Amino acid sequence: MSSIKSQITSKLVGEIEVPGDKSISHRALMFGACAIGTTTINNLLESEDVFSTLNALKKLGVKITKNQEHWKILGNGLGSLFVNNQTLDLGNSGTGARLLMGLVAGSDLKVTFIGDKSLSRRPMKRIIEPLLKTGAQIDSSNNCLPLTIQGSKIPLPIEYYSKLSSAQVKSSVLLSGLTSTGTTTYFEPLLSRDHTERMLRYMGAEIKSEETLENIWKITLKGLPNLRSCYFNIPNDPSSAAFPIVAALLIKNSNIFIKNICVNKTRIGFLNTLIEMGGKIKLFNRKENCGEKVADIEVKHSKLKGVNIPAERVPSMIDEYPILSIAASFAEGKTTMNGIKDLRNKETDRIKEVEESLNKLGIKTKSSYDNLLIEGLGKNFVEGGIEVDSKLDHRIAMSFLCLGLLSKKPIIVKQSETINSSFPNFYNSMKKIGAKLIKI
Ligand code: S3P
Repeated sequence: MSSIKSQITSKLVGEIEVPGDKSISHRALMFGACAIGTTTINNLLESEDVFSTLNALKKLGVKITKNQEHWKILGNGLGSLFVNNQTLDLGNSGTGARLLMGLVAGSDLKVTFIGDKSLSRRPMKRIIEPLLKTGAQIDSSNNCLPLTIQGSKIPLPIEYYSKLSSAQVKSSVLLSGLTSTGTTTYFEPLLSRDHTERMLRYMGAEIKSEETLENIWKITLKGLPNLRSCYFNIPNDPSSAAFPIVAALLIKNSNIFIKNICVNKTRIGFLNTLIEMGGKIKLFNRKENCGEKVADIEVKHSKLKGVNIPAERVPSMIDEYPILSIAASFAEGKTTMNGIKDLRNKETDRIKEVEESLNKLGIKTKSSYDNLLIEGLGKNFVEGGIEVDSKLDHRIAMSFLCLGLLSKKPIIVKQSETINSSFPNFYNSMKKIGAKLIKI
C-alpha cells in the first residue's frame, strides 16, 4: 500500500503530458480483435485497467504484441475468440468487465469474470438484463462479480430500452450484436459517450445514431459487419486532463497547456461547466483524428463562481464530478450537481466519499440520493491536514491530491497506487509542472 502527500503549491506552469484515452483504449483492443488482419494502435493508454482488458483478450486467444511505440492486434474476425473456460480477472476495470461481457455473450464461449474488491461490489444487473435477451446464459449469485457467461453461438438481435444513459451498457449490447444476424437496436434517454459508434463506423460497420421524436437516443447496428482492421491514433484523455485543469484554475499564477485532448461533445461537459464557472480555458488547434475531435487546451488561474449543473449534463461529465467538487469547494457561492445517483455505483460511492472528506476540511455540503450541493469557500486555500483513503478509487485519489495543493497542512492520500488504473504518470507529470507531491 502506498501513500502520496500533497502540499501547498505556489503555481503550476508549463505543458503537462496526459495519457491516451481510457475508453477508446479498451475499445481499440476489443474491436481490433473483431476485425480480420492487424490493427495498429498508437498512444494506447498503458494503465492497469487497459492491461486488464489486454490480458483478458490474450487469454481468450487473441495475439497482441508491442512493436516500438505501437500495439498490434492480430484479429481473426467476428466470433473468433476460441479459448474456452477461462477465468478473466478485470481488476478494477468496470469498462473492461462490462464490454467484454458483451463480446463473450456473442461468442460460443464459457467465461468467468472476477475483479478486485471495488469491482466486485459494482452492479452488473444493467448488463445481465439485456445480454440474457440475446440468448446468453449468465450465472451470478447477486448480480455482481464473480459472474459466469455462456455465450450464444447465434445471438438474437435485440431491441433494448435502457433506463440508464450508460456507454458501458450500450457498448456491451452493441458488442454482442456484432455477431448477431439481424439489427440490434438500443435506446438511451441521453446520449452517452459515443466512441463505440464512431470507432465501429470507422472500421466499416453500419451503425446509426439519431434522436427520436420522443427525445431519446436510438442506436442501430447491422449485425455481422465486415470490420476492417485499421490504425487507431488514440487522443489524450479529457477525464485525466480534468485534474491538472482544475488544479491550474485554482492555484494562483498558474498557466498550463495540454496537447491533443479528445473533445468529443459527449465527453466535455466538465469543460463547459468550468467555463460557465468563470474558468479561463481556451481550446485551439482543433482537428479530427480517426473519427474523434481533438484540440489543445490552455488553462489559466481564474476566479470561479458556483453554478447549477443540470441532470442532462451528467453523461458528458460522469467521471469528472469528484474533481469538479474540488473546483466547487473553492468557488464563490453554491454549486449543485443534479441527477448524479450513478456516481454511487462507480469505483466507490463517489458522493459519499467526496462529502466525507470535504466535511472533514470544513467545507459544507448537502446531499440526497441523486444530488450534491457544495458551499464554496470563495478563497484559494483550506487548512488541510487530513488523510483520505482512496478505497481503490483512482479519481478520488487524484481529486484529493489536487486539493492538497491548496492546503496549508498537507493532505495524505492512502492506497494511492490505484491511480495506475487510469493515469500511471500522474505523479511525475504533475510534479513537472510544479505540484508539490511526495511519495511516502
Ligand atoms: C465508460 C463509461 C462510463 C464511465 C467509465 C467509462 C466507457 O460509465 O464512467 O469510466 O468507457 O464506456 P457509464 O457509461 O456506465 O456511466
